[in-house]
Amino acid sequence: MALLYSAPCYSLASASKLKLKNPNNLLSKTNSSTNVHLRGLPSYGNGNVYCSLIPKIVKTGVKIVEAPVVSLIDGLQPAIFTPPEGDLKKEDFPPDFLFGASTSALQTEGRGDEGGRGKSTWDFMIQASQGKKAVDSYNLFKEDVKILKETGLNTYRFSIAWPRILPNGTLESGVNQEGIDFYNKFIDELIANGITPIITLFHFDLPVLLQNQFYGFMRPNIVEHFKEFADLCFEKFGDRVKYWGTINEPYVFGSYGYKMGLPGDLKNDPLGPFIATHHIILAHAAAAKLYKEKYQKSQGGKIGISLPCKWYMPHSADPKDFAATKMQLDFQLGWYMDPLTRGEYPESMRKNVKGLPEFTPSEKELVKDAFDYIGINYYTSRYVKHTCTVDAMSGVINIKYAEQTADDEGNVVGPQAKGQEDIYVHPDGLKNLLLYVKTEYGNPEVYVTENGMPDKPTITGSVNDMIAQGKTAELEAAFYDDYRIQHAHDHLVAVREAIKEGANVKGYVVWSLMDNMEVGAGYDVRFGLNYTDYYDNHKRYPKKSAKWFANFLQAENAKGSNN
Ligand code: NOJ
Repeated sequence: MALLYSAPCYSLASASKLKLKNPNNLLSKTNSSTNVHLRGLPSYGNGNVYCSLIPKIVKTGVKIVEAPVVSLIDGLQPAIFTPPEGDLKKEDFPPDFLFGASTSALQTEGRGDEGGRGKSTWDFMIQASQGKKAVDSYNLFKEDVKILKETGLNTYRFSIAWPRILPNGTLESGVNQEGIDFYNKFIDELIANGITPIITLFHFDLPVLLQNQFYGFMRPNIVEHFKEFADLCFEKFGDRVKYWGTINEPYVFGSYGYKMGLPGDLKNDPLGPFIATHHIILAHAAAAKLYKEKYQKSQGGKIGISLPCKWYMPHSADPKDFAATKMQLDFQLGWYMDPLTRGEYPESMRKNVKGLPEFTPSEKELVKDAFDYIGINYYTSRYVKHTCTVDAMSGVINIKYAEQTADDEGNVVGPQAKGQEDIYVHPDGLKNLLLYVKTEYGNPEVYVTENGMPDKPTITGSVNDMIAQGKTAELEAAFYDDYRIQHAHDHLVAVREAIKEGANVKGYVVWSLMDNMEVGAGYDVRFGLNYTDYYDNHKRYPKKSAKWFANFLQAENAKGSNN
């Protein structure tokens, strides 16, 4: 049997395994009972030489059992498909496991002035003309659903823009029917294509009037406003949406937004993040409890929150580094997880933060257990070194912490990501974080709601123009993202291992479906499985990583696909 695909050329990893310097020697090592696995070599290197062997191999009767993915777009070198070594299979995960991709309204929708949408706090930060369109999913959402389907993903995590539904933030100030119609069409399109929506209600883009009139999350009335917005969404979309996420990465927008003065002109208040976070937790809990009491029985969905956390490891064997590591986990994850599971902030925070708000007895009751699942957004890890001080008057030992990228022997956390220097790739961190959530917080149902790999290729024009100008190497660097494949593979292995050790993980959602407007970095940093052509109407093209996912998730359909 010979399985051949219409690709113009291949490369043979089997040749490299046989350590053949001269590809022609491959023939002398094979006979008609040999299976030749057409797996690629990591670089284009000898591809053309090896591919010329294929007809000769076929003549010898050797079985060619697997073909690589080849050209992604005409004009580029064929991509040699080198699945990472290992035995990862979709079947390693539970049958109902969600495999998805994630985006947010702010980063994809664009068209902020259309469809009756009000202004969000971010509109004033994104002044670039491209920013106004993001990746134009407002118009191209059907295309997004199509690429999800082609990638074999069964889940899409995206967010609703609060100002598209309530342009001035409050229910009282009026509902934008056009916004509701838009999300109805979007959700229907997903469902019609067999894709499960996970909807985040708030992913950074606060209606600007709520910021200006009520100081956003700095005042308690945000809790009611968020609850009424959530109520409206449950009522309008909950018949079809079975996974709700209230708030994305509260740690990030709570800290950056309310300490560092972003977005807009917020005050730099050292207690700001603690006050804002208190209201974020109450807002989440109010919406979650509402869902559970008013909608869950009839709609049958689940509600959770997406928390970002690095994995933290002690910098040395010093017990104080262990204590500092725990404290750092408390200050990032425990800040939310302790209230949600125990009804109060972690002890380390209560001891160390003067002015930390307290939950009243009725708030404790509201907050505790106000979730069905926890979303974890994981990107990187750090070592933690203690900085210990002793209060001379009281003798109280005060352990603080400092993040480090290497341990005391100089071992670095992992290789740095290409597009973002602060991401050190460390898949084991994900496994350990999932196991930490399991043991520390009573093994809740968990979804990895974000995990991904940035890069920063040099792109100076549209795909078509760059090909016409012979700038194919730059495009190949963007399209043939083997490191992103390796990254997804290794993190999926980490999830699989965590599940084996008892973690209750039910889904893995990669950031991101396509390159989009990266918060704080703009359009140069790309996280997508699919390439976005910012110079040609936001056209989407699959990268090699999208093909890898397709291959992994629907092996039969994707094999040999070259389009
Ligand atoms: C976190 C955020 O939720 C998302 O908005 C961002 O683009 C990704 N991580 C990547 O940085």
